[in-house]
Amino acid sequence: MSLSEQINTDRLPEHIAIIMDGNGRWARQRGMDRIFGHHQGVKALREVIEASAELKIGHLTVYAFSTENWGRPDEEVSALMDIMVESLNNETDTLIKNNIRLSSIGDTGRLSADVRSRLMETIKLTSGATGLNLIVAMSYSSRWEMTEAARKLASDISAGRVDPESVTEFNFSSYLATAGIPDPELMIRTSGEMRISNFLLWQMAYTEFYFTDILWPDFGKEELYKAIIDFQKRERRFGKTSEQLLDK
Ligand code: IPE
Ligand code: IPE
Ligand code: MG
Repeated sequence: MSLSEQINTDRLPEHIAIIMDGNGRWARQRGMDRIFGHHQGVKALREVIEASAELKIGHLTVYAFSTENWGRPDEEVSALMDIMVESLNNETDTLIKNNIRLSSIGDTGRLSADVRSRLMETIKLTSGATGLNLIVAMSYSSRWEMTEAARKLASDISAGRVDPESVTEFNFSSYLATAGIPDPELMIRTSGEMRISNFLLWQMAYTEFYFTDILWPDFGKEELYKAIIDFQKRERRFGKTSEQLLDK
């Protein structure tokens, strides 16, 4: 049986989050520049988007550039920004054709005007799509997001719009960049690193983690299928006992 046939389509995650890591090492292993690895990474992303759309996954969040990544050498940061613009230029028509909606989370105020306007343009052009919601985490970190949420909530409280007693987990979530998006059930990180690197800390309270040694440019449809098959073998207890789950 092929990997895709082993997937139970009745139990697909509604939201998959991916930390696309290992582009630099992939390139270095081949005696190439790290930037070459980032270009190859775009090809892997394209495949994973295609596979997710085919499987009818609702939301796919990809970590493209973290707040901490601003601290990389200037040439690398600017190459990554160029790759972002180039990818949006090349892929916007394909997104529209495949009914894929682009959205973003992150501090877009830190992006240069041309990167920001290209991103906003594609978000606008794809806003009517009803298929896969592709969420790009760009200039994103979870602590930035939570701090912003706390700031907005504090300002609503001080303006008398919100009663502090009424704050719940549920309405706090609506202050996050991911408001309205279900928490990811599955998070994949490539390249063998076993850490979260400031990604969706609030949203991943009960997410299943899947780590693979595969470097991001080598990740593709089959690798995604493997992660989903592994996810489907797990028992998600949410603090309850196995017996309680069986009783249902
Ligand atoms: C992931 O690959 C892409 C970004 C963080 C932008 P890396 O560039 O982190 O690659 P490694 O981890 O150095 O191999
Ligand atoms: C995380 O990868 C961020 C992205 C994939 C965009 P990093 O390569 O920046 O993470 P660390 O520094 O190894 O934790
Ligand atoms: Mg890395």
